[in-house]
Amino acid sequence: GEEKIWVGVVAAMTIIFLGALAYAAWVIGLQVPGGDVQLVDPQKALTELRPGVREIAPGRYEVTVVGRMWQWFPRNITLVDPVEVKFRLTALDVIHGFQIVGTNVNVMVFPGYVAEITWKVPPDAKGTYLVICNEYCGLGHHEMYGFVNII
Ligand code: CUA
Repeated sequence: GEEKIWVGVVAAMTIIFLGALAYAAWVIGLQVPGGDVQLVDPQKALTELRPGVREIAPGRYEVTVVGRMWQWFPRNITLVDPVEVKFRLTALDVIHGFQIVGTNVNVMVFPGYVAEITWKVPPDAKGTYLVICNEYCGLGHHEMYGFVNII
């Protein structure tokens, strides 16, 4: 009689609860960096990743940037007639945020991981762009800026 109904209700709630748990685990799992995300030991990032600008083909650049309280390395990035720029970014200490003001380049930078973002540079992009850190990273956060010069 009534007992069976309650047993059924409890069973249904248990299934829903387990389903929600499985779903949450799956969603959280999707958010954990994995797959082709490159890992790097923060203590070795400067020597292993060698921050700087590399032209890998005419107009195609790979720019490796390392963030540390409170500076980007390199601070000044100069690109000659860039078409496409792949930024590879990591941090040595805490989470920073690499943003080139006025562009769609905006990525969180975690210690231990190499973040990648590709900037398709518009043909009329010549000029100087301000680079900021947009994740609060301590007392000198506001001093953590740099420049991208497109010439
Ligand atoms: Cu680095 Cu804020």
